Amino acid sequence: MIRENIQKSINDQINHEAFSAYLYYSMSAYFESQGLKGFANWMKVQAMEELFHTNKFFGFIAERGGRVELRAIDAPKTEWKGPLEVFEAAYEHEVGVTHRIHKLVDLALKESDHATANFLQWFVAEQVEEESSVEEIIAKLKLVGKADGGLFFLDNELATRVYTPPAAASK
Ligand code: FEO
Repeated sequence: MIRENIQKSINDQINHEAFSAYLYYSMSAYFESQGLKGFANWMKVQAMEELFHTNKFFGFIAERGGRVELRAIDAPKTEWKGPLEVFEAAYEHEVGVTHRIHKLVDLALKESDHATANFLQWFVAEQVEEESSVEEIIAKLKLVGKADGGLFFLDNELATRVYTPPAAASK
Protein backbone atom coordinates (compact mmCIF):
# COMPACT_ATOMS: atom_id res chain seq x y z
CA MET A 1 0.00 0.00 0.00
CA ILE A 2 1.29 3.41 -0.92
CA ARG A 3 1.72 6.09 1.77
CA GLU A 4 -0.81 8.91 1.81
CA ASN A 5 1.73 11.71 1.26
CA ILE A 6 3.39 9.91 -1.66
CA GLN A 7 0.02 9.15 -3.21
CA LYS A 8 -0.88 12.85 -2.95
CA SER A 9 2.40 13.94 -4.55
CA ILE A 10 1.95 11.48 -7.42
CA ASN A 11 -1.64 12.63 -7.90
CA ASP A 12 -0.25 16.20 -8.13
CA GLN A 13 2.21 14.94 -10.74
CA ILE A 14 -0.60 13.28 -12.73
CA ASN A 15 -2.26 16.69 -12.88
CA HIS A 16 1.02 18.32 -13.94
CA GLU A 17 1.69 15.75 -16.67
CA ALA A 18 -1.84 16.22 -17.99
CA PHE A 19 -1.24 19.99 -17.93
CA SER A 20 2.01 19.38 -19.86
CA ALA A 21 -0.02 17.60 -22.55
CA TYR A 22 -2.45 20.54 -22.64
CA LEU A 23 0.44 23.00 -22.89
CA TYR A 24 2.01 21.17 -25.83
CA TYR A 25 -1.35 20.79 -27.58
CA SER A 26 -1.75 24.53 -27.15
CA MET A 27 1.69 25.12 -28.65
CA SER A 28 0.74 22.77 -31.50
CA ALA A 29 -2.45 24.76 -32.10
CA TYR A 30 -0.43 27.99 -32.13
CA PHE A 31 1.93 26.57 -34.78
CA GLU A 32 -1.06 25.38 -36.85
CA SER A 33 -2.38 28.95 -36.75
CA GLN A 34 1.00 30.17 -38.05
CA GLY A 35 1.06 27.69 -40.95
CA LEU A 36 4.04 25.83 -39.42
CA LYS A 37 2.71 22.29 -39.73
CA GLY A 38 6.01 20.57 -38.96
CA PHE A 39 6.38 22.48 -35.68
CA ALA A 40 2.73 21.70 -34.94
CA ASN A 41 3.41 18.00 -35.54
CA TRP A 42 6.43 18.00 -33.21
CA MET A 43 4.39 19.57 -30.42
CA LYS A 44 1.50 17.16 -30.94
CA VAL A 45 3.88 14.20 -30.60
CA GLN A 46 5.25 15.87 -27.45
CA ALA A 47 1.69 16.12 -26.07
CA MET A 48 1.20 12.40 -26.74
CA GLU A 49 4.36 11.64 -24.79
CA GLU A 50 2.96 13.64 -21.89
CA LEU A 51 -0.22 11.56 -21.98
CA PHE A 52 2.00 8.49 -21.79
CA HIS A 53 3.67 9.97 -18.69
CA THR A 54 0.25 10.72 -17.19
CA ASN A 55 -0.82 7.14 -17.82
CA LYS A 56 2.38 5.73 -16.34
CA PHE A 57 1.85 7.57 -13.03
CA PHE A 58 -1.85 6.61 -13.10
CA GLY A 59 -0.97 2.93 -13.50
CA PHE A 60 1.62 3.06 -10.72
CA ILE A 61 -0.85 4.34 -8.11
CA ALA A 62 -3.33 1.66 -9.13
CA GLU A 63 -0.65 -1.03 -8.98
CA ARG A 64 0.30 0.04 -5.45
CA GLY A 65 -3.31 -0.21 -4.29
CA GLY A 66 -3.73 3.56 -4.09
CA ARG A 67 -6.43 5.91 -5.31
CA VAL A 68 -6.04 8.19 -8.31
CA GLU A 69 -7.74 11.53 -7.75
CA LEU A 70 -8.15 13.78 -10.76
CA ARG A 71 -8.53 17.52 -10.51
CA ALA A 72 -9.17 20.37 -12.94
CA ILE A 73 -6.35 21.05 -15.37
CA ASP A 74 -5.19 24.67 -15.65
CA ALA A 75 -5.69 26.40 -18.98
CA PRO A 76 -2.39 26.76 -20.85
CA LYS A 77 -1.11 29.91 -22.53
CA THR A 78 -2.27 30.20 -26.15
CA GLU A 79 -0.14 32.90 -27.80
CA TRP A 80 3.59 33.36 -28.26
CA LYS A 81 5.76 35.76 -30.26
CA GLY A 82 7.30 33.08 -32.48
CA PRO A 83 8.91 29.61 -32.57
CA LEU A 84 11.90 30.57 -30.42
CA GLU A 85 9.69 31.93 -27.65
CA VAL A 86 7.59 28.74 -27.77
CA PHE A 87 10.58 26.44 -27.45
CA GLU A 88 12.17 28.56 -24.73
CA ALA A 89 8.89 28.28 -22.80
CA ALA A 90 8.88 24.51 -23.41
CA TYR A 91 12.44 24.28 -22.08
CA GLU A 92 11.56 26.27 -18.97
CA HIS A 93 8.56 23.99 -18.46
CA GLU A 94 10.69 20.84 -18.72
CA VAL A 95 13.26 22.20 -16.24
CA GLY A 96 10.35 22.67 -13.85
CA VAL A 97 9.16 19.10 -14.45
CA THR A 98 12.67 17.78 -13.78
CA HIS A 99 12.72 19.66 -10.48
CA ARG A 100 9.36 18.14 -9.52
CA ILE A 101 10.52 14.60 -10.38
CA HIS A 102 13.68 15.07 -8.31
CA LYS A 103 11.57 16.31 -5.37
CA LEU A 104 9.43 13.18 -5.70
CA VAL A 105 12.53 10.98 -5.57
CA ASP A 106 13.70 12.89 -2.47
CA LEU A 107 10.33 12.26 -0.81
CA ALA A 108 10.29 8.56 -1.72
CA LEU A 109 13.78 8.08 -0.29
CA LYS A 110 12.92 10.05 2.86
CA GLU A 111 9.97 7.69 3.37
CA SER A 112 12.11 4.63 2.52
CA ASP A 113 9.65 3.87 -0.30
CA HIS A 114 12.16 2.18 -2.59
CA ALA A 115 9.51 0.87 -4.98
CA THR A 116 8.47 4.45 -5.76
CA ALA A 117 12.08 5.68 -5.88
CA ASN A 118 12.88 2.88 -8.34
CA PHE A 119 9.79 3.61 -10.46
CA LEU A 120 10.78 7.29 -10.64
CA GLN A 121 14.20 6.49 -12.13
CA TRP A 122 12.51 6.02 -15.51
CA PHE A 123 11.34 9.64 -15.28
CA VAL A 124 14.75 10.89 -14.13
CA ALA A 125 16.28 9.48 -17.33
CA GLU A 126 13.32 10.64 -19.45
CA GLN A 127 13.76 14.23 -18.25
CA VAL A 128 17.37 14.30 -19.45
CA GLU A 129 16.04 13.43 -22.90
CA GLU A 130 13.10 15.85 -22.66
CA GLU A 131 15.37 18.80 -21.86
CA SER A 132 17.97 17.87 -24.43
CA SER A 133 15.55 17.45 -27.36
CA VAL A 134 14.08 20.91 -26.72
CA GLU A 135 17.54 22.46 -26.27
CA GLU A 136 18.58 21.01 -29.63
CA ILE A 137 15.69 22.74 -31.39
CA ILE A 138 16.39 26.04 -29.59
CA ALA A 139 19.99 25.89 -30.87
CA LYS A 140 18.74 25.30 -34.43
CA LEU A 141 16.22 28.14 -34.15
CA LYS A 142 18.99 30.48 -33.03
CA LEU A 143 21.10 29.37 -36.01
CA VAL A 144 18.38 30.03 -38.56
CA GLY A 145 17.42 33.34 -36.93
CA LYS A 146 14.73 35.12 -38.88
CA ALA A 147 15.67 33.64 -42.26
CA ASP A 148 12.43 32.30 -43.75
CA GLY A 149 14.28 29.60 -45.70
CA GLY A 150 15.85 28.22 -42.52
CA LEU A 151 12.51 28.07 -40.76
CA PHE A 152 11.03 26.27 -43.77
CA PHE A 153 13.71 23.55 -43.63
CA LEU A 154 13.39 23.19 -39.87
CA ASP A 155 9.61 22.91 -40.25
CA ASN A 156 10.14 20.08 -42.74
CA GLU A 157 12.51 18.33 -40.33
CA LEU A 158 10.08 18.56 -37.41
CA ALA A 159 7.30 17.21 -39.63
CA THR A 160 9.07 13.83 -39.61
CA ARG A 161 8.72 13.23 -35.86
CA VAL A 162 6.53 10.21 -35.18
CA TYR A 163 5.11 9.14 -31.84
CA THR A 164 6.58 5.85 -30.67
CA PRO A 165 5.19 4.37 -27.47
CA PRO A 166 8.25 3.87 -25.18
CA ALA A 167 7.46 0.16 -24.60
CA ALA A 168 7.90 -0.46 -28.32
CA ALA A 169 10.96 1.77 -28.63
CA SER A 170 14.51 0.48 -28.50
CA LYS A 171 15.55 2.66 -25.53
FE1 FEO B 1 6.31 14.56 -18.68
FE2 FEO B 1 7.86 16.49 -20.53
O1 FEO B 1 7.67 15.70 -18.89
